[in-house]
Amino acid sequence: MRDTRTFVIIGAGQAGGWIAKTLRAEKFTGRVVLIGEEPYLPYERPPLSKAALLGEVDVDGTYFWPPETYDALGIEVLPGTRATAIDRATKQVSLDNSDTRIYDRLAITTGTRPRLLPIDGAELTGIHYLRSIDDSLAIRADIRKGSKVLIVGGGWIGLEVAATLSKLGCRSVVVEAADRLCGRAVTPDISNWMVKLHQDNGVEVRLGTVVERFEGVSRLERALLSNGESIDCAFAVIGIGVIANTELAAEAGIAVENGIIVDDLCRTSDPDIFSAGDVTNHPNKQLNRRIRLESWENAQNQGIAAAKSMLDKGEAYGEIPWFWSDQHDANIQMIGLPEDWDETATRENPAEAAFLTMYLKGGIIVGAISVNNAREIRVAKRLMQAKKVLSVDYLANTDIKMQAMLKA
Ligand code: NAI
Repeated sequence: MRDTRTFVIIGAGQAGGWIAKTLRAEKFTGRVVLIGEEPYLPYERPPLSKAALLGEVDVDGTYFWPPETYDALGIEVLPGTRATAIDRATKQVSLDNSDTRIYDRLAITTGTRPRLLPIDGAELTGIHYLRSIDDSLAIRADIRKGSKVLIVGGGWIGLEVAATLSKLGCRSVVVEAADRLCGRAVTPDISNWMVKLHQDNGVEVRLGTVVERFEGVSRLERALLSNGESIDCAFAVIGIGVIANTELAAEAGIAVENGIIVDDLCRTSDPDIFSAGDVTNHPNKQLNRRIRLESWENAQNQGIAAAKSMLDKGEAYGEIPWFWSDQHDANIQMIGLPEDWDETATRENPAEAAFLTMYLKGGIIVGAISVNNAREIRVAKRLMQAKKVLSVDYLANTDIKMQAMLKA
């Protein structure tokens, strides 16, 4: 018998898309409504700073699923539509086109938005942020071989864009406020390694520096830095972090603190409202604390978990964080969030410019970072999950295959 309930999802990004898809995979026969403010179907963000900027992937190529999939699954997608309010008493979502949708259960997957840089000249054309397909297309339209580009923020966005621009024959200057690159995500030794990687590929890096002012007549022409430098540039890309889109939830009276607070079943403080993806503050039993995780893998897997919970088939969610990034010829992968460790074990393969560094606390792996070594970091993740106590000498011994360590 057909389920008469309506499940509404606000936010048609990766997490929202996976909720809709999973509801059907789990045989939910009621209505599924997916509301997204962008004019696109749910799409992959990793290509936006890489293949899409290079022109190797078009808009359709970034979609998780083609339009026919939504039709076939009976998922009602409302693209170009913004949810403006949630009335929890009447279980109603207001839309910016004056329409409303009634829900039995609701998921909020509103993600994050770029943090803006509020300095003089910030309104000039040629100053970009990168979060959406439209942002990526706008940057691509500004790329000219041989031009100089200012990158503000030496985090994931800044470094991936700088690497892509190098491939396209542009010269980038990365201006990072902190004293090291990607400080939120990687350890100091990897930050140092990243500086060298980028410098070896023609990217200039300024640490401990900020942009004080952008200048130009109508378009950006130059930027004045806190170290006194003036940099002439064709355009700028700013990647100085993101802000969680929690306003809609907070205004509806749902508990919010550094994200929408959910439990390990993706339930918010309202029993009929769920949340997943970048916007959630969720418990992680592997790390023994709450986190808000800005990661591709979390958006997918927490989305799947939330859908199951909406159907009362939930299982506790909380995986070891995993990230990857491609910069120049390096595939960088990370597991865990290494913050506190007393030893490190490194396995090097200089012939392939590859290595794996594992961070240990009391002999247990608490995180690892690999470069061009996807195979071994997968094993390190399983060793971390198993909480095996292993010595640094043993882990670093490349005569022993890591796979064998699982059985040790
Ligand atoms: P981020 O947090 O990775 O890096 C921001 C960087 O900007 C930090 O290094 C910070 O110190 C610096 N910064 C802050 N204020 C500054 C200022 N005024 N001047 C200069 N530097 C300043 O955030 P990012 O790169 O903006 O990325 C946005 C989101 O996209 C994140 O959620 C990130 O995880 C995600 N992303 C993930 C990728 C991956 O996993 N491979 C790739 C690209 C983006």
